Amino acid sequence: MSFNSILTIWYSANKRDLPWRKTKNPYNIWLSEIILQQTQVKQGLPYYDAFISNFPTIEDLANASETEVLKLWQGLGYYSRARNLHFSAKHISENLNSVFPKNFKDLLQLKGVGDYTASAISSICYEESVAVVDGNVYRVLARYFGIDTPINTTEGVKQFKTLATSLLPSSNLGDYNQAIMEFGSRQCKPQSPVCSKCPLNIGCQAYATGSIKSLPVKLKKTKITKKYFNFIVTLSGDNKTQIEQRTKKGIWQQLYQFPLIETETSVALEDLLKRPDVHSIIPKLYKELFLYNETEIIHKLSHQELHIKFWILKISAPIKNAIKWSEIKSYPVPIVIERFINNFQN
Ligand code: ADE
Repeated sequence: MSFNSILTIWYSANKRDLPWRKTKNPYNIWLSEIILQQTQVKQGLPYYDAFISNFPTIEDLANASETEVLKLWQGLGYYSRARNLHFSAKHISENLNSVFPKNFKDLLQLKGVGDYTASAISSICYEESVAVVDGNVYRVLARYFGIDTPINTTEGVKQFKTLATSLLPSSNLGDYNQAIMEFGSRQCKPQSPVCSKCPLNIGCQAYATGSIKSLPVKLKKTKITKKYFNFIVTLSGDNKTQIEQRTKKGIWQQLYQFPLIETETSVALEDLLKRPDVHSIIPKLYKELFLYNETEIIHKLSHQELHIKFWILKISAPIKNAIKWSEIKSYPVPIVIERFINNFQN
């Protein structure tokens, strides 16, 4: 039996019952695919459900405010995906008469839609013959065909896309593409796959040569930068605090945070107070200023490692541009700040 038939048969017996598999509506498929680029199925499901119940149609998403969209996305990380989703919903609604693009080429024109997402939507919704290549597909192909070209190089991307395309069946494109992704996530897993029970083990090069653990190959090329964030949590006598919106490009753009002092290293209170930039945030007169978390929180992102301290600043006077502490939960904030808010006993 051919590679693609084995996968399609495996899929019909093993596929998970997921809400986006009950529809071919491109809005639902698009949303699910964007969420699944960010997290695994189990963690992504509640986000998908929340988006669909708050914004059942693309017009509903287009009419939402960016804050609402970011709030629903909160915790998934990589917030530019949510902003692009919102941007493209508005574009489709305003400029395309709410009609979703219907083929791979037109889908690629949408902001935030790359080769992977356009392939997934066009094959699942319109049965177009294009191959999806996500991390799971790289793993299945690298192992089965014994390919050690690094997957994060131009050459690797091209080679795997060509191979994946050559393996497409002549019908049921959407199911086949989902089959190979599902197979990668549930059977041909990154760690300890059960190869003895795999329906593809007979032809698998990596199984035959004992190289399951070393495939696929990925070059380590990103340097991780360390950053030191000091959030100043101001508390006034009338139970208010200050937050600001991050406007700078990069992580957490448009999310809210407590006023931030970024330092070059991890600092103690004396060093913090010596900095010239603290005075716009910390007034000369205050009641108390102390470190909330003795052990700094380390938050790992793809290219950065954030070392985070929360400093509590109590003041008697009212503060400018303040919000009530009880209102803070309606703002989209980075997950580390949300955890702090949930744990903090004011
Ligand atoms: N991973 C991302 N999208 C998927 C899909 N549609 N089916 C299976 N796994 C996936």
